[in-house]
Order: sequence, then structure tokens, then C-alpha cells
Amino acid sequence: MAKAPPPATTRRSPLTTIESSRDRERLRTVVFPEHSDLAIAVADRIVEVIQRETRARGRVVLGLATGSTPLGVYEELIRRHQAGEVDFSHVITFNLDEYYPMTPDSPHSYHRYMWENFFSHVNIAKENVHIPEGVTPRERVVDACAAYEDAIRAAGGIDFQLLGIGKTGHVGFNEPGSDAASRTRIVTLDTLTRKDAGADFFGVENVPREAITMGVATILDAKEIALLATGEHKAGIVARAVEGEISTDVAATFLQRHQSATFYLDLPAAAELTRINTPWILEGVDWTPAMVERSVVWLAERANKAVLKLSARDYAEHQLSPFKCSIGCATRFGDGPSCPTTSGCSCSRPIRTTTSSRWAAFCASCGKTKTRSSWPT
Ligand code: PGA
Repeated sequence: MAKAPPPATTRRSPLTTIESSRDRERLRTVVFPEHSDLAIAVADRIVEVIQRETRARGRVVLGLATGSTPLGVYEELIRRHQAGEVDFSHVITFNLDEYYPMTPDSPHSYHRYMWENFFSHVNIAKENVHIPEGVTPRERVVDACAAYEDAIRAAGGIDFQLLGIGKTGHVGFNEPGSDAASRTRIVTLDTLTRKDAGADFFGVENVPREAITMGVATILDAKEIALLATGEHKAGIVARAVEGEISTDVAATFLQRHQSATFYLDLPAAAELTRINTPWILEGVDWTPAMVERSVVWLAERANKAVLKLSARDYAEHQLSPFKCSIGCATRFGDGPSCPTTSGCSCSRPIRTTTSSRWAAFCASCGKTKTRSSWPT
């Protein structure tokens, strides 16, 4: 039975995103400190596309995803629909994938997921919904996949494609080895993907070994793409997809070739992006006291030394040299004294930094450290 939709929301304050250097990023990322803002931002964008395209062409084509990540977006779209803000009667949808074999009424089927979590709560026409059929006889699968591609083309192509990302880097079920030219087809699921789905199926042995999925090329044909990722378990693969080389090892890296692909991330999923994890190795860092503290603690861990034992060389070897010359004025230790660590040091004020267990001060020029107790007053 379909779940009751959540109550309608009222207007909210502007969404907050984390803005920082994107030097290492090969596609657009938006990072939300508030997890719930992510679903709202993506729903905002989908509603805009629906309204723009239905005004212009009388219909709109959405590519949709399943899994736990997009659930918040579907809830938000249902709320908007119930609040009279969005009409789905001219919306055509194509889902990314379905397990094979899989009957549509199975609790594990993506057909059932889509109807329970989204379609039954909005005014979409049943004939406008397309999901690969997990019951197609094997000898007809190739034709059915070609027909799926034809149907997307006949609908005018996908205006907006929603994606999740698996720990293997899959988008849809394009597992490692999928190439940029791949189209809708039957695939073998990666062992890690089956393991991740094991809990839902009450054991990995019950997870189907195959699936039918749109290909990488099918996805890249979409006019706009939004990949959503939440949770720290996605942080490693997100960083690889955003900052790594394009490779068939990680299908999501192909999104780097798209003109209009955006990764919408919560903070845990963004945690391994350079701009979040080690922003001090990028240009133009805002050297707040908190940033100084994080970078020194990071350096101490990296160099495997106590904070007070870090040398100028440690700073230089870990790309923290700019830190030494640029922050002196930003985070001075009050009106503290001249640096006592070395004679002839050009730094007139030491920089205070703390760790959870102790704090120290060090010179922005020479990088040497002193405890507060030994600091001359
Ligand atoms: P998840 O799945 O949203 O359940 O993490 C994403 C995916 O495998 O594409």
C-alpha cells in the first residue's frame, strides 16, 4: 500500500551552501551544510524545469532514479504538488534501471518503489511513466532496450536527469567497465553493489545478479543532470568522480564531459573533496582561526608529530608554506609579543592555534612553535 505523503511545507528561508575554492573540481558541485536543503534545492530545480518546458513545449521529460538518496526529493515534489505549486499531467518520465529478473509487484522492484514513493501521490498519467521491464524474456531484452532508447528519443530527449551514485561509482547500473558509448542494455551487477543491496533483500544471495540500465551515453544525452549524494559512505567515490581522471573504472567520471551536470552533496558526502577536507592546499583560503587550527592538526597527523614538534620543513612539505606567509595578519595572537622562536624572524606576531588537548602558538614566518606558558608576556 502507498505511504501517506508528508504534510505540506510553508515558505522557508534561503538555502545555505558552502562556498570555497573549486580549483580541483572537474564539474560543478553544490555542498549543503543542512542535509534537508539538498532535497529542497533539487526539487526547486525540477519544478523550474517542469514549468519552463511545459510552457515552451507543452510537456517535459524527466529521467528518474531510485535508491535511498532521492527519497527526500520525491517527498518535496509531492508536497509542492499538494500545495498546488506543480502539475505533473504533462510530465513524461524514464527511470534509469530495474533489476533483472524482477516482477513489477515485488517489494524489491523499482516499479513498486516509484509508485509507492512518488507516482501515486502526484497527477502523472500512467502511460507517461517508463521503467525498464524486469520481466522481459531474455531473448527479447536486446529489442526491449532498443525500444527504450527509441521511446526516449520520441519523447524529445530527457530534459532533466536525476542520478544517485553507488559505491562503485555507478550511475544507473553502469558498473566499472561501462564505457561512454554504452546505451540501455542488460548488465551484470558488481559484487559491491550486490553487497550494498543485501540488507534490502535479506541476504546478498537474494540480490539479482543482473539489471537493465540506461547506458552512460543515454544519461549524457540529457540536457541537465543532477547527481545527488548523501552520507559519509559516499565521500570517497564522490571525490574520485569530481576530482579524478575520467575512466571506465568509475562511470560517474563521464559526467565531467557534460556541459550541465551538477553534484548536489550534503557535507558528509563532500567530506573528501579537497575544498572541504584540506582547503589549505588550495589558493585563496580564508585563514580563519578555525582553519588554522584544522590545518595544523591535520599537519601534525600527517607528519606523525606533536603540534609543537612541527618544523618549517613540515609546513613546506605539506603545501602549507602559503599559510606561513599569508596569515600573519589574519589570526594574530591578540596584541602578543614578537615571535620568540628564532632570532631574525620577520614575523612580529605569533599565531595562536589550539588542539582539543592543548594549544600552542607558532610563528607565521619560521613555522616554529611554542607553548603559551613559555611565551614571553
Ligand atoms: P542509494 O543508491 O541512493 O541507495 O545510496 C544510489 C545508487 O546506487 O545509485
